Parts: sequence; structure tokens; C-alpha cells
Amino acid sequence: MQAAITTTATTVCAHPHTKPSSAPFLRLSPPACRVSFSASPGPNVRATAMAATPPQQEQQMVITRPDDWHLHVREGGVLEAVLPHSARHFGRAVIMPNLKPPVTTTARAVEYREQIMRALPPGSSFVPLMTLYLTDNTSPEEIKLARKSGVVFAVKLYPAGATTNSQDGVTDIGKCLPVLEEMVRQEMPLLVHGEVTDQHVDTFDREKVFIDRILAPLVQKLPQLKIVMEHITTMDAVNFIESCEEGHVAATVTPQHLLLNRNALFQGGLQPHNYCLPILKREIHRQAIVSAVTSGSRRYFLGTDSAPHDKQNKECSCGCAGIYSAPVALSLYAKVFEEAGALDKLEAFTSFNGPDFYGLPRNTSKIVLRKSAWKVPATYKHSSGEIVPMFTGSTLHWLPSDQPEE
Ligand code: DOR
Ligand code: ZN
Repeated sequence: MQAAITTTATTVCAHPHTKPSSAPFLRLSPPACRVSFSASPGPNVRATAMAATPPQQEQQMVITRPDDWHLHVREGGVLEAVLPHSARHFGRAVIMPNLKPPVTTTARAVEYREQIMRALPPGSSFVPLMTLYLTDNTSPEEIKLARKSGVVFAVKLYPAGATTNSQDGVTDIGKCLPVLEEMVRQEMPLLVHGEVTDQHVDTFDREKVFIDRILAPLVQKLPQLKIVMEHITTMDAVNFIESCEEGHVAATVTPQHLLLNRNALFQGGLQPHNYCLPILKREIHRQAIVSAVTSGSRRYFLGTDSAPHDKQNKECSCGCAGIYSAPVALSLYAKVFEEAGALDKLEAFTSFNGPDFYGLPRNTSKIVLRKSAWKVPATYKHSSGEIVPMFTGSTLHWLPSDQPEE
């Protein structure tokens, strides 16, 4: 999908096959101005649009409403505080099951979904897509129940001990084989936290070793299983995803793994709010992920992994892993695509590749991203604490809004 730049006077399509009605566009309004466009080798929306824009003009992009294919919303007061941030801009979100205790049964997933629905702002049409937390003891019967419920969307594999509330996760993937085979029959996708927990493996290598030891053999064994490698962090993951048959294996990508490398953990002192799992990696890995995502490949889609933890549980002697990105994620993804000169590829990543992979309809409503500076709040308060968002206190340049302008 290629971008069209619209002014009040002209519409210039980047590609002869572009359908302006379904393409994201960058509008310069008013007054009318001429926009020159270089079509070769590919459009650079930022450079051309910015160069042609007098300072008083507002730029905006209208895109199909995005979905978040990987989201943590927790329960209780935190749920009530964070859910509106996602519901405001995203149509659907895949809700992670790593609660205390985890969502291991369909009955519990149904209950959790009701909790989420009650926490939604009035009038919201946000759809939570529920997941089951896989354990060594999950039964094939549970997968049948899950499918029948119409509520469970996918099953999440946490290797035991890999991350927050993963202690009840899988200790040996071999034990899950009957369940995975049932998932193939029920066409239920597997969402994977791709890290080994072997203490002999360096933290920064755990994703690569997981691919070699667990994921590649699993794809070989069950080629019909739909797998999403969640929050990829390495060039190795990109190479692996590219090596798989398209449509069977895909990946979600977070804003932090597109914008930060591991230096961000130590910049001017320890930075607990940049600590997440899988941990940030070297710059070469970040660059590989940015290239993959901004290439226009359909194998990658938006999954924030927005993971709220109380400030006091991040800023302490044993801080939790997780970055709260829900309120800033769209601004940050736009920043990544803009800096790569690939704003014309943003909408496919945020709004098309995910539903297309999962066989769901794309959203029909739109949202607007305005080129307008806004300051990220220092914290978001909830009933018993506060949460520090990603890029706290900084100024971002794309402001999402669900109010399309006529
Ligand atoms: O950083 C993370 N936080 N990674 C995960 O896999 C889990 C998440 C959480 O739930 O806090
Ligand atoms: Zn997660």
C-alpha cells in the first residue's frame, strides 16, 4: 500500500495502483499548496511533504483504526486506568493472560473478558481478544472448550520463569504436543514468548537460542500451526521469520524494540522504565527490526506489549520487567516509520497485516495522526499508585485522535 499526499488542491498518488480511498494520506490544510513528489525509488512522504509545508499548515494522516496484537491490561484499579488508553485508538487487542493466578481455563478467560468489558468507557466499541495461558497440564479438551466459547482467540506460551508471572508456564514443550496438535485441528494460533530460561544462556542470547532449540523444531513438526513470535528483538528473529512460509509464522513488534537499543538501559544511570523482557538488544538488532518492519513485509504487525507496573515496583531493588506504552505507542510507531522514510507503510503495519494474518476483517473506522507536538505526562495515576509511561515527559510529534476532520 502506498501513500497519497492530499492538499486542498491536488491529490498526488505515490503509485499508479494506489487507491486513494484506502490509502493512508498526509493532508496539508489549508491553504492549498503544491506538493512535488518523487516516485523513485520509493516515496519519502516526510521529506517531500515537510519541504513543501509552510509552518502554519497542519499535516495529518488518516489511517484505518489500528489493532494491538499484544497487550497487558491487568485487573482492578490498574485495568480501569490503562484500558481507556488502548480503547481510545485501537479497535481490538489481544489480551495477555499472565495474571495472578494466570488465565489457564476458558471459564476464567470468559470472566476476565467480562471484567474488561465493565472497565471500558461508555460507548466504546473496543474488542478484547482473550488468550489462554499454556501450562504443562493444559488438556486438549480445554482447547476444544476454548474454541467453542467463541471468546478465546489464541493460546500463549510462556516458558516457565521467562518473564512476569510466568512461573506456571511450560517447562517442557514436549509435554504440550497433544495440546498443540489439537490447536492445529481447532485452528487456534499459538503466541510465543520466545526466550529460553536456561540460566547458562546469556540473557542477550535467549531469543536466538529459543529459536534454535524450540521454535524451529516446532515449526518443522507442526507446519500447520499458526505461530506468532511475540515482541521480536533480534536480527536472528527477523531471519527466522523471513525463512518461514508466509501466513504460518509472523511476529509482533513493540515500540521499544524499534526505538531503543540496550544503551537505553544505562543512559546516565540505571533506567528501570526501559527494562522489559525480552531485554533491549544491540543497535544492529534494532536496525534489522526497523528495516524488516518498514520494508512493507506482511509478516510483521503492531503489538505494543504495553505492560503497566506501578512506579514503586519499577523503581526498586528488584524492579519488574515491562514498559507502559499504550498512550504513546501510535506516536512512536509513526516516528519510526517517518524516520525511515516509510510513512506510506505505516498503515499496513498498524491496521492490515494483523487482521490479514489472523483471517479477521480489517477495521472499517479511521483514526487521525496529526503532526502536532505533545508532551507525554510524567505518570498516570490509578486508584492505588501511578504508572510511568514510555518516553515519560518527552515531546512527541504525532498526536493520534479518533476525531477525523472533515
Ligand atoms: O517486559 C515484559 N513485561 N515482558 C513480558 O513478557 C511480560 C510483561 C509483563 O507482563 O509485565
Ligand atoms: Zn507481553
